[in-house]
Formats: sequence, structure tokens, C-alpha cells
Amino acid sequence: MKALLLVGGKGTRLRPLTLKTPKPVVPIFDRPFLAYQLEALAQISEIDEVILSLNYQPDRIEESLKAGESFPFKIRYVVEPAPLGTAGAVRYAKQFIDGSILVCNGDVLAQLDLADLLDKHRQQNARATIVLTEIDNPAAYGLVETDLEGNVKCFLEKPEPGHIASNTINAGIYVLESDTLDRIPENTNWSLERSFFPSLIKNKEKFQAYISNGYWIDIGTTEKYRKIHWDIMDRQFDAQPFHSSEMNTVVLNPSANISETAQFIGPCFIGENVTVGSGAKIGPYAVINRNCTIHEGAVLEHSIIWPHTEIGSRAVLRNLIIGHACKIENNIEPKEGTVIEDGSSIG
Ligand code: GTP
Repeated sequence: MKALLLVGGKGTRLRPLTLKTPKPVVPIFDRPFLAYQLEALAQISEIDEVILSLNYQPDRIEESLKAGESFPFKIRYVVEPAPLGTAGAVRYAKQFIDGSILVCNGDVLAQLDLADLLDKHRQQNARATIVLTEIDNPAAYGLVETDLEGNVKCFLEKPEPGHIASNTINAGIYVLESDTLDRIPENTNWSLERSFFPSLIKNKEKFQAYISNGYWIDIGTTEKYRKIHWDIMDRQFDAQPFHSSEMNTVVLNPSANISETAQFIGPCFIGENVTVGSGAKIGPYAVINRNCTIHEGAVLEHSIIWPHTEIGSRAVLRNLIIGHACKIENNIEPKEGTVIEDGSSIG
């Protein structure tokens, strides 16, 4: 069986982080985001090929994955000549698909029993199954309403508060039968949510919901990009590098060069070849990626630093995301909440 990950979007809401690093491979601790998704797909032994549906900066995605871990399935890279939208992208890869296919948005992480999802799809002879997740504040998302038997009845895109009758949203994970894809016009921008799924409902085809109550997040915004780190650190989502660890753990790569007088308050993560100078105070909720240097007396909390960045002496970093190869000068305290673009120098 094949799975297809939709990873061709521009990730505009995650800018400036996504200007040079496409959203599917932004680092989560020291792994590209996609590695977490591929790891989840590797739990299903019948998946023998994962198709990555690419458009924005495809080479960077391919390079990043080829430099990293290996997985027990073939990875096929399919690049659209122009963005075709979520349905157009699946249609574009149709020549590589047969039977049932698992399709996932490339920016979601979910604690989900994928084998059970596939079983339910097959037991019901469904033409399509959509995973729904319950959230407290659904107004910013597309809502999906079902009948009592779990058949999907309608999609409501970002409804007015008075029109919210359910709190289940589209989790961006689907099982589709490949012959349903014929209705999608070739080389045309088409959306699963706005065109493909409504056509299944209109034609009264068996289109069912699978409700998941497990952890679910999409990393569409910088706020959620930050949150996914804190959730893994707090064990709300069980994953490396905090897998099975105690609360408030300090994960320290053995290659890090740490002064004896540096202080660490867990949870925090210190990657490969990081240097931390004397009296620096790191954590809680600090993520320092590989080859960063933190000079003496710097303070770093609730912040994420991408590789090759240098933090000056006594600089104070609170609630920041700092891109690749930046330099923060001595004694500087950037405004809380700032996201600093790759290669910036702040002095
Ligand atoms: P924003 O620009 O911030 O909205 O992000 P995005 O471009 O990723 O769009 P969105 O979050 O709506 O996309 C949901 C998923 O579909 C993401 O995993 C995208 O990579 C993917 N996606 C969106 N549009 C396309 C497309 O035209 N082609 C392909 N292959 N994937 C797409």
C-alpha cells in the first residue's frame, strides 16, 4: 500500500522560517519535521512506498531527508510543475497509485492508530475516510459535520461563531480509493476540502469520518511550531528526543562542550557540538540546535535556536525563535515573541 504526503505548500504563515527551509523540513529539535511523520507511517508494515508530493523548494526537502534517517519503505519524490492544490497534487501523482491510499497533510502530527483507521475504511467499504479531531476552539478551522452513523454531511470553512454546531475539524489525514480521483481535472488547481470531498457528498458516495481523540497539532504557525517542542518536552506527545524521559529532563548531546558553571533548568535540549560558556543559564524550555555557541552569562528560556547561531555574552533571550546562522551581540535582549530570520545579525 502507498501513502502520499502533501508537502508542496509555501508555508507562508511560518515565515520568515520557511523562506529558506520549507515547512516539511523545519527542525523539530534536531530532526526535520517529516521524519516524525515518516516514523509514524513506518508503524504500518503494509506501507511499502511513500510519495512526497512537492512543489515549493523540492530540492531542499529531498536533500534534508537523504542526509538523515532511513525508513523501511521507498520514498518517491513527485514534483508538480506549478502548485496544484491539495486535490490537484494527489491527481498529479495518480499514475503511481492504485487501490486504497493514505493521504496526509505534511504539517500535522497525530497520535493515531493508523492500522485501525485502515481497518475501519475497509470494513465499511468506504470510498473515502477522513480523520476528524476534536478541538476546543474550532472557529479558525474548517469544521466537518457528520450524521449519527458517522457519514460526512458537510464542510464549513471558518464559520461564524453562531453557526458552529460541532467541534470536530479536519485533521488532514485521509484514506481514499484511487478510482475516486478520476473526477479531479488534470493539471488544474483543485482542493480536497472545497471541491473533491463536497463532490463525494453530493454524489452520495460512502464517505465516512474517523474521530480521533489523541494528540493532534499542525505546525502551520510560529506559535504552533513552538508549542510542538514544548508538548514533546512535556510528554503530551511521546517522541524523540524526550521519548520515555522523566519530566523536566535536560537532553544533552555528548559532543556538547559545556562550562562547569553553566546552569541548566529542564526541560531543555542541547544538540551536537553546542558550546555553552561559563555562568550561562539555559532553560526551562530551551532548544539549542547543533553547532551553536552560547557565550558566558547568556540567559535563554522558552526559545528555539536553529543551527550555527551565536549568542553573545549576557544576551537575554526569552520567548524567541532564532533562525539558522544568526548572531546576537553581547548584552542584547531582543523583544519577546520575535522570530528572527536566518543569517540576521542583531546588535
Ligand atoms: P500556508 O501558506 O501558511 O497556508 O501553508 P501551506 O502552503 O502549507 O498551506 P496549507 O497549510 O493550507 O497546506 C496544507 C498541506 O497541504 C501542507 O502540508 C502543504 O504542504 C500541502 N499543500 C498545500 N498546497 C499544496 C499544493 O499546491 N501542492 C502540494 N503538493 N501540496 C500542497
